[in-house]
Amino acid sequence: MTVETATPEAIARGAGLLRQGGLVAFPTETVYGLGADAASDTAVARLYAAKGRPQFNPLIVHVLDRRGAEEIAVMGVLAETLAARFWPGPLTLVLPRTKHSPVSLLATAGLDTIAVRIPSHPVARALLAAFGRPIAAPSANRSGSVSPTTAAHVAEDFGTDIPLILDGGPATHGVESTVVDLANENPALLRPGAIPREALEEFLGDLDAAREGRIRSPGQLRSHYAPHRPVRLNATSAGPHEALLAFGPVAPSGAVRTLNLSPSGDLIEAAANLFAHLRALDRPPARAIAVMAIPEHGLGEAINDRLRRAAAPKA
Ligand code: TXA
Ligand code: MG
Repeated sequence: MTVETATPEAIARGAGLLRQGGLVAFPTETVYGLGADAASDTAVARLYAAKGRPQFNPLIVHVLDRRGAEEIAVMGVLAETLAARFWPGPLTLVLPRTKHSPVSLLATAGLDTIAVRIPSHPVARALLAAFGRPIAAPSANRSGSVSPTTAAHVAEDFGTDIPLILDGGPATHGVESTVVDLANENPALLRPGAIPREALEEFLGDLDAAREGRIRSPGQLRSHYAPHRPVRLNATSAGPHEALLAFGPVAPSGAVRTLNLSPSGDLIEAAANLFAHLRALDRPPARAIAVMAIPEHGLGEAINDRLRRAAAPKA
């Protein structure tokens, strides 16, 4: 049985599953989240695979307390003020990633920023406390369906594909957290949510209207990650000035440096390695990055979406 009442025993089992790289759905005060160990590339890749998103949206990383937030995000004065007023609660802050952040690059889709929140729901908090580390958790629905507010909704979407759904009753707010971007010069309300704009206005001053609602088209996030070097797709060979991002058992030789996303051709492993490998190849003496073809199924769709963006001419 996947759905279990969120007793202390079930929560402890959830923490154990997270430690093994598994997925656990849990209630928050907004909607149910689908959680994974935020520090594990593989766990996060599994999460994207389960969601079935055709893109790598950066995920919200949940932490228990301010110390946990400061480990992964650079908190400025404004962030401190908002945190003091609204955390724990349904506010997500987009902040610069800390330099030595343990969080998977895949969880933040390669960005230098991170969305972080401290939830108030007792089950979410108990799971965070038992696990003892940050939990990456998007809303626990498959891509394209609405956010779940009960454990039954989650079970409808995922059936037995996730090992544990912690049932903590209906989520109270029923809408997602409000997402505020504090990583750029002017704060922006990226997603309206459970905390109304009016409640934030007295703290935020001038909001950047141009970036408002940008989150609805996540692929268009202003600062999506792209390598500095030109990227060449569907490569079947590599020149001496090129670094090669390989996939599968047979990679051409001749590149100045080669990293393989998955020698066995496993797309979850490939997703887990994608951002770290791209960054590692985006260095001298390589002058360009050649990328082998990736199959367009499962996580391949999201991988290719990201690679196509990386290869597109810079704006
Ligand atoms: O209420 C909520 O926030 C729920 C519960 C589970 O906490 N979570 C949730 O996560 O709604 P998700 O992944 O469905 O939505 C996260 C949103 C996405 O639209 C994503 O694009 C945005 O936050 N986001 C995450 N990191 C970001 C970043 N670094 N910069 C800009 N937007 C970011
Ligand atoms: Mg969602």
